[in-house]
Amino acid sequence: MGLVNRITLVTGASRGIGREVALGFARAGALVVLAARDRARLDGVAAEIDALPSGAADVVELDVSDPAAVRRAIDGVVRRHGRLDALCNNAGVSSAPGPVAEVAPAAFAAVQQVNLIGLYACCHAALPHMQRAGYGRIVNVSSGAAIMCNAEQSAYAASKAAVNALTAAMAKEVRTANVLVNAMSPGSVRTDMNPTSSVPPSEAVPTAVWLASLPDDGPTGRFFRFMQELPMLPDIDLDWSSR
Ligand SMILES: NC(=O)c1ccc[n+]([C@@H]2O[C@H](COP(=O)([O-])OP(=O)(O)OC[C@H]3O[C@@H](n4cnc5c(N)ncnc54)[C@H](OP(=O)(O)O)[C@@H]3O)[C@@H](O)[C@H]2O)c1
Repeated sequence: MGLVNRITLVTGASRGIGREVALGFARAGALVVLAARDRARLDGVAAEIDALPSGAADVVELDVSDPAAVRRAIDGVVRRHGRLDALCNNAGVSSAPGPVAEVAPAAFAAVQQVNLIGLYACCHAALPHMQRAGYGRIVNVSSGAAIMCNAEQSAYAASKAAVNALTAAMAKEVRTANVLVNAMSPGSVRTDMNPTSSVPPSEAVPTAVWLASLPDDGPTGRFFRFMQELPMLPDIDLDWSSR
């Protein structure tokens, strides 16, 4: 029960992986604040959590692409619950497939606004509270796309590679305040974003719970799947010695 009495926030908790992670956090003993845009779905997940033995949920209607709304939401969590122990930045969107020559810059930017700027805004708002408390765990839901860099998925791959870089940089800034920041790939799992996968989204839960409840000497600035470390960078040949 690694999250007993922890105050946690999961973005994109209305469905898919975020819903499963929120249920996983609740089963591990946390109070879970559920954030996303769809209030009715969030209320449904909150009811599922409230039905668990000692389940406790709170709901925040939030569009993570609005940094001012993110600030209000996270300050509100700390006002209501006293602190924010763990943040799971899961909210994300995929990009319509297409080559760079055809995907408009505005469509590229729209993906970054949720997957990267939204995640940054959540960290920007949460970190001062965590640093003041001397405790924090941040779990950034990235993707294998960050390292596979598939053609015709440039907006999505770039957003997730940037999430990995942000994770590594941020982790160095806050290590001394006992704030641990890691990224994870949930794997290819069946959700609205990826309806053809046969793997249930609950597969992602153990890694998220583990990263949200790391001991003080746990890893930081790393990228994991099934609790195993993955490379942070694309597997490309960077021959620095010849430059
Ligand atoms: N499924 C996979 O195979 C897979 C693989 C690798 C990585 N991932 C990553 O896992 C995360 C969750 O994906 P999923 O597969 O569960 O997708 P999903 O089923 O489409 O769910 C996406 C979640 O993000 C929320 N969301 C989207 N835009 C938002 C915004 N602007 N503000 C707040 N919430 C927003 C949605 O809620 P509302 O619509 O209610 O706002 C929903 O709860 C994403 O970061 C995704 O990139 C998924």
